[in-house]
Amino acid sequence: MTENPEPFPFEQADPTGDAERDLRTALGRFPTGVAVVTALDADGLAIGLTVSSFNTVSLAPPLVVWSLQLTSRHLDSFDTTATYAINILSATQEEVSNLFASSLDRPFDQVGWAPGLSGVPLLEGCCAWFEVDNHQQLDGGDHRLYLGKVRRFAADPSPVPLVFHDGDYRVLRDR
Ligand SMILES: Cc1cc2nc3c(=O)[nH]c(=O)nc-3n(C[C@H](O)[C@H](O)[C@H](O)COP(=O)(O)O)c2cc1C
Repeated sequence: MTENPEPFPFEQADPTGDAERDLRTALGRFPTGVAVVTALDADGLAIGLTVSSFNTVSLAPPLVVWSLQLTSRHLDSFDTTATYAINILSATQEEVSNLFASSLDRPFDQVGWAPGLSGVPLLEGCCAWFEVDNHQQLDGGDHRLYLGKVRRFAADPSPVPLVFHDGDYRVLRDR
């Protein structure tokens, strides 16, 4: 068995190197799913971005969380929208993930979607969808955390989920 490396405080991670890069690499050891968070902006136009920061918080009340970079062009929209949706991507949706991580202006022209609660877009072909109220926001360093209260959800058990790990997309192996 490989010995665990000695734990170290962040400040001493690598005094000669880039501690932030080392932290990012270590955090990337944690595999996540990939989701696209969708909403309507103040003009009623569909917006969305790819996130790996989605996670569950609470079952009763039903709360989920994700975080947005403070530099995002979508910050104002997610601060003000009353509802938004979290679309959990399937393994076949790597291109959708890249599309919503790009700065392209009209990504919704290139994917299939249907309007959900309040007209918020729900993407086709996902593993699960959560339509949430914009319940609470918390500042967390260079990101803002958004707590969503689930109003409606659906899950398709058939598709395999898309996984992100060590900075790349992965495919789940059956046990
Ligand atoms: C797999 C993956 C996960 C990402 N996760 C997040 C995230 O959790 N939060 C975030 O703000 N941006 C995340 N991004 C970056 C955004 O999708 C997008 O590239 C960035 O928001 C672009 O800047 P903009 O919001 O100003 O358009 C992720 C990108 C990828 C490819």
